[in-house]
Amino acid sequence: MHSFEELSKDFISRFQQSHFPEHPASLYGAAEYFLGLGGKRIRPVCCLMGNELFDEINPNTWHVANAIEIFHNFTLIHDDIMDKAPLRRGMETVHYKYGEPTALLAGDVMLVVSYDYLNKIRSEHIHRIIQLFNRTARQVCEGQQLDMDFEKADDVSLDAYINMIELKTSVLLAASLKLGAILGGAGEGNLHHIYEFGRNLGIAFQVQDDFLDAFGDPAKFGKQVGGDILANKKTFLLIRAMESASESQRAELRSLSDSNPPDKVEKVLSIFRSCGVDVWARELQDKYLNTALQHLDDIAVLSKRKEPLKKLAHFLVQRDY
Ligand code: IPE
Ligand code: IPE
Ligand code: MG
Ligand code: MG
Ligand code: MG
Repeated sequence: MHSFEELSKDFISRFQQSHFPEHPASLYGAAEYFLGLGGKRIRPVCCLMGNELFDEINPNTWHVANAIEIFHNFTLIHDDIMDKAPLRRGMETVHYKYGEPTALLAGDVMLVVSYDYLNKIRSEHIHRIIQLFNRTARQVCEGQQLDMDFEKADDVSLDAYINMIELKTSVLLAASLKLGAILGGAGEGNLHHIYEFGRNLGIAFQVQDDFLDAFGDPAKFGKQVGGDILANKKTFLLIRAMESASESQRAELRSLSDSNPPDKVEKVLSIFRSCGVDVWARELQDKYLNTALQHLDDIAVLSKRKEPLKKLAHFLVQRDY
């Protein structure tokens, strides 16, 4: 059994190889640039951890882990175009540096390369793996579209928000764990619980992302703080504020969403603060984190084997980057 840190070190050293041909450098250089920016590598390591929960690491799991991380990076490059984001991992986003057309293609080619890795799998479980991978990828597209639809919607409920973040974010975390577990030979009951662990944890993870987007330390977060406010994202922060703010604050939030004054972020943040959204963030995270941990408890393996995942779960909701 290995800790998240150990598996992460191992994954990162293997992942450092080049994943693309050399030419044209104008395309593959952009893809390499982005992968070179690092990132937490949570999903591929979750895949390895999901595998190791049940058995020694199966060589196929490294291919799946590569596929997952490259797929994730593809979604980030396209996400940054959709969100008009200038910064990621403390550096310029791909479309800012190389232009939108190249960013689109770099993302596209990364999606293709992720399937090249899946194609290296030699396992009786290959069909099941592709099926889960594809279902997850489709759900991410659905979640991303809802995320953008909500920018223009006035009333988004908390349930609709949770459904949207489940699709855009949490299913990939859940699938990463489950894909590893499939290769580890887990039975149906255990596969169900590890997926539900990841799905609930993924929701708490995105709640933290949304919280940091508003209140994170720009030096650590690596993304433009306030980006969600500028884009009128319907995060739980805004949903909660609209519910609990005074009539005049509500009117101000509405008028700020229709205009883009230079002090928009500052003004919205001050309303968020006065509504106590930070307390709410903690409550919402705890609810999903606890459900996640119950599912982890229900997995039928020795509890000692679950320690690394338990530690990871707490890190994911407490992180500041
Ligand atoms: C960012 O994911 C996108 C979300 C789903 C919030 P991460 O926070 O895992 O990003 P990296 O890969 O570590 O940069
Ligand atoms: C992105 O959600 C989810 C996907 C990339 C699928 P966000 O838009 O909140 O992610 P960040 O904050 O840009 O990393
Ligand atoms: Mg984004
Ligand atoms: Mg987005
Ligand atoms: Mg975000």
